[in-house]
Amino acid sequence: MTQDEMKKAAGWAALEYVPAGSIVGVGTGSTVNHFIDALGSIKDQIKGAVSSSEASSARLQQLGIRLYDLNEISEFAVYVDGADEIDPGMAMIKGGGAALTREKIVAAVAERFVCIVDGSKTVDVMGQFPLPVEVIPMAREYVARELSKLGGKPVYRQGVITDNGNHILDVHDLAITAPRELETRINAIVGVVTNGLFAQRGADVLLIGTPDGVVTRKA
Ligand code: A5P
Repeated sequence: MTQDEMKKAAGWAALEYVPAGSIVGVGTGSTVNHFIDALGSIKDQIKGAVSSSEASSARLQQLGIRLYDLNEISEFAVYVDGADEIDPGMAMIKGGGAALTREKIVAAVAERFVCIVDGSKTVDVMGQFPLPVEVIPMAREYVARELSKLGGKPVYRQGVITDNGNHILDVHDLAITAPRELETRINAIVGVVTNGLFAQRGADVLLIGTPDGVVTRKA
């Protein structure tokens, strides 16, 4: 089974968590693209979607799924998204696709976060995958110096502008043993818009695509 087939299995398994008649929160990335395709197959049974990126919006629209602005809705049942790493406490690193800020906003409103991954994303301690931090462009070098003081090696993701017009620093060489605390600490640096740690709002359900089928974990 290829990695993409495992992503697809996890993406389609998430349909089980989508209530009929609901507005669905949709993340970003190659695993979520499979989920969007799956949503297309039940599009007459849902009201529509609220999206976390221009890329996901375009794919949802192509399938004829109605898009809602997050400001139009006060609550919705489920947000489905991938992750770059997820630890045993259901904390995640996200933002490999640079969509972390809108992902964090949409996830904050959802009652339940369903994370869909292939088996390569589950880790004991996060940090092998560099932690993305979205920054206001004029603050980039200042924030990089502050992140270095936390022990990481920030690298500017050249040529990438987020959907919000900002820059991304990827922080290498962190061993993230206290994700909640680190999430708060990085957010306190002036010029940081969001960091890719989803620890305070971690996943509620994890669907892992494996060669033996989809494994489910619950928080
Ligand atoms: C997008 O910014 C990310 O948070 C993605 O959810 C994450 O990078 C997982 O992407 P893949 O599903 O493509 O691995």
